Amino acid sequence: METVLSGIRSTGNLHLGNYYGAVTNFVRMQKDYNCYFFVADLHSLTTYPTPEDLHSNVKTVLAEYLACGIDPEASTLYVQSDVPEVSELYLLLNMNAYVGELERTTTFKDKVRTQPDNVNAGLLTYPVLMAADILIHRSHKVPVGKDQEQNLEMTRKFARRFNNMYGVDYFPLPQSFNFGKELLKVPGLDGTGKMGKTDGNGIYLVDEPEVVRKKVMRAVTDAGPTKENQEMSEPIKNIFSLMDIVSTPETIDHFREQYNTCKIRYGDMKKQLAEDIIKATDPLREKIREILADDAYIRKAAGMGQEKARASASKTLREVRQIIGFKPF
Ligand code: TYM
Repeated sequence: METVLSGIRSTGNLHLGNYYGAVTNFVRMQKDYNCYFFVADLHSLTTYPTPEDLHSNVKTVLAEYLACGIDPEASTLYVQSDVPEVSELYLLLNMNAYVGELERTTTFKDKVRTQPDNVNAGLLTYPVLMAADILIHRSHKVPVGKDQEQNLEMTRKFARRFNNMYGVDYFPLPQSFNFGKELLKVPGLDGTGKMGKTDGNGIYLVDEPEVVRKKVMRAVTDAGPTKENQEMSEPIKNIFSLMDIVSTPETIDHFREQYNTCKIRYGDMKKQLAEDIIKATDPLREKIREILADDAYIRKAAGMGQEKARASASKTLREVRQIIGFKPF
């Protein structure tokens, strides 16, 4: 059976991008694959959370994974820092990662531009830690959104380099995965780019209906089409992309027709989009709240996950150490 792995950074609540870009795929994969899903709390240290925030963010992401339908018995759901083998593999892989190639990754270049006062080495080697996450279970498939494509390419590079260096065929070259379809990029509400955690851009699964309505009504649009079948601007394309995810085909057709005939009223479209988002997230919101209040269940799920993840990780690490030449005297 093929092995699947994916992770979510513990830097706050899950948004629609995380859910539709990745987590729905995790849930669908549980039956047919050997699945590992984890909370990337080591990765979150690049942003210096306080100890209290770190702990509560990890708990929130665990609860949200469970509420979205991850079954802790069928899959292995764990916290990255509970599996120290990951950190050792990260150290070993770092020896084989070149500073030049790490400096050229888009995410690193973005960080250098946006936070020049905090370009820490953890940011530079972020893709190496991701590779360690993936390779520690010798994963074949990684369900992710489009934003993680480059990191996956780096993982393949490190895996290939390790195999070549030691003349082994040990690590599979992991592929990003979305059930045969292109990887998804869920757009944000601020007119450009992907949905993320910046203010005014993202909708969280736990947002109350009133908050969803407010956020969607404030989404960036344009002055409206002035001729029939006019090419859409990026903000309008984004609103339609969100509708594609949560609305019925009839609703989408209706608003496309209205746009193409210049009759569209963006206010009506946003109202409809907000209601469709609320309908889609309603059952999750309740469930997240229930699970967040159930400390015993979260503890049990994470404990079970840690045990299964460490069993798999320590086997890989033992084999990697042998391949490299670390042997007992
Ligand atoms: P993170 O926490 O930013 O996102 C978690 C998952 O959600 C997907 N995602 C999106 N998909 C589509 N549209 C969006 N707007 C959108 N925003 C987020 C991401 O692609 C991801 O699948 N570095 C990773 C966490 C990580 C990881 C790993 C993932 C650490 N190690 C190993 C896979 C394998 C991250 O920060 O994802």
